[in-house]
Amino acid sequence: MRNIDEHTITGAVLESLEGCDDPRLKQILGALVTHLHDFVREVQLTEDEWLQGIRFLTATGQMCSDTRQEFILLSDTLGVSMLTVALNRKQSAAATEATVFGPFHVDDAPRLEQGCDIAAGAPGRPLDVDVVVRSSDGTPLPGAEVDVWQADEEGLYDVQRGPHRRARAVMKTDAEGRLRFRAIVPTAYPVPTDGPVGRMLVASGRHPWRPAHIHFLIKADGHETLTTHLFRDGDPYLDSDVVFGVRRSLVVEMGDTLTHTFVLDRS
Ligand code: BEZ
Ligand code: FE
Repeated sequence: MRNIDEHTITGAVLESLEGCDDPRLKQILGALVTHLHDFVREVQLTEDEWLQGIRFLTATGQMCSDTRQEFILLSDTLGVSMLTVALNRKQSAAATEATVFGPFHVDDAPRLEQGCDIAAGAPGRPLDVDVVVRSSDGTPLPGAEVDVWQADEEGLYDVQRGPHRRARAVMKTDAEGRLRFRAIVPTAYPVPTDGPVGRMLVASGRHPWRPAHIHFLIKADGHETLTTHLFRDGDPYLDSDVVFGVRRSLVVEMGDTLTHTFVLDRS
């Protein structure tokens, strides 16, 4: 019989996975156990600290609801979400870069026409948006679906205020792959801080701010779906986004107007 101690326990847990007949699950669990054990050894985790960690994860789960996903926020603020995006969304050099999806997209955004005002009463300075969607070979993409969402001037998404949908819309590009609409100039806002992730940020001396941005989810036949943002140039948080989502190529001028070309790779 093997004696379980700090030197043999990792091997014992890995051996217990031998019967797992899903090779990918076996690989993921094996690596997770190995790294977790190494982490415990490296920091010489005390029992009190272990319990504190368990309480933190319990509170994170308890904070989750239909409209609040504290685990995704934890992943975002630890850089895991953006790392997963960076690893999995490897576009061609021509294509628009992807960034985090975030928790504020909804599936039932209003479907609006070219030229509309998506703000629908949300507080903020008007921003005239004029974008083109094209394929990485340069061809314009007519009929591309452009799903847009943004926070208002007070840094809140509609879903944080109530059931009324505003400052978001799903629209289609015209025959030239172009889409024009009115939105509002985005402002920086803090991620929700009233839960365990907020307490973690405070305890670790971090601020909760995201630089001003507008979200875009763009779908076109025969092309990879693009999940991205455009960030407002000059924002003071561009270099310290709490979810590490900024890519230089996504930082653009947003005075009273915003013009941009999105480029999608063929699938
Ligand atoms: C957002 O941009 O909407 C967002 C992304 C990650 C965490 C919180 C908010
Ligand atoms: Fe956002």
